[in-house]
Amino acid sequence: MKAPIFLLLFHFSISSPFFPTSHSSSQPTCPPLKCSPQSPEIHTPFHLTAHHPPGCGKPGFTLSCKHNTTTTITFPHHHLDLVVKSISYDENRIDLSDPRRCVHGVFLDLDLSLTPFQYAYAVKEFDYLNCSARLPTGSFDEVACLSGKEHHVYTVEAGERSSFEVLPEFCRVVKSVKIPFGYSPYLADDEFGLGLTWETECGEEMSKGFLANNLVGSALCDKLLKLGLCLVAVALLLSLKMYHTNRGEEMLVNERSHLFFLVESLKGRGDEESSA
Ligand SMILES: *[C@@H]1O[C@H](CO)[C@@H](O)[C@H](O)[C@H]1NC(C)=O
Ligand SMILES: *[C@@H]1O[C@H](CO)[C@@H](O)[C@H](O)[C@H]1NC(C)=O
Repeated sequence: MKAPIFLLLFHFSISSPFFPTSHSSSQPTCPPLKCSPQSPEIHTPFHLTAHHPPGCGKPGFTLSCKHNTTTTITFPHHHLDLVVKSISYDENRIDLSDPRRCVHGVFLDLDLSLTPFQYAYAVKEFDYLNCSARLPTGSFDEVACLSGKEHHVYTVEAGERSSFEVLPEFCRVVKSVKIPFGYSPYLADDEFGLGLTWETECGEEMSKGFLANNLVGSALCDKLLKLGLCLVAVALLLSLKMYHTNRGEEMLVNERSHLFFLVESLKGRGDEESSA
């Protein structure tokens, strides 16, 4: 009896006209797409340039297909093309790899404040040093992919700068930037550290949606809404059940007291009879 009501409410929360899913009539159709069968699925907030119609996805979430197989993301301010390995819409996370295999080159160039993304890792401030001679071996490892015969690039944690009394005069600080980790030859990988996350502007989307009576929530937003409605339904059912249980207990208490009075009055009568 209770389960069908619950299911009905749940169904209502999914199909209610007040909360249309992303593919409502006034929106462009933005079907999920893939660059290849093995590639990550691309849907809102992302969109696939040249395949999704304009209006799909959100600004800054533009992906493209290279050679019809590889999914790439372009950071327009940086002229950086990175390969998209996976997208988790549940965790708001995108994992990338650098085709040039130079993660510290990406860290150096990429200014995430110009994008909707943050690093998925805690960040620390590092200085990139560009030195015309090698630092003494054993102090720091040079970033091989950024260094050449005549110049040697190092990442030095801002706090560690004190390990130089003064910066060697053959070095200059190229940039101070907050990145997940400094260079280590053991982590010289093309993908480690290139996990990014993005924020879901749930409140913003919800208010926009309610105003336009057209809720274009992100996947997470949709889920939260449905979860919220489910919780309301559950609370309703629980309170109904409690109300009934309370009424039942009240009746039971009433019955018990009636019984008590009955027993007492019988006892009283018995006492009267025996004393008589
Ligand atoms: C990609 O696919 C399109 C049509 O599906 C085809 O015309 C084009 O030649 C392909 N490009 C490559 C690089 O495979
Ligand atoms: C380091 O300096 C050299 C020589 O001035 C320059 O060619 C190179 O681009 C610089 N590298 C970085 C990462 O700044």
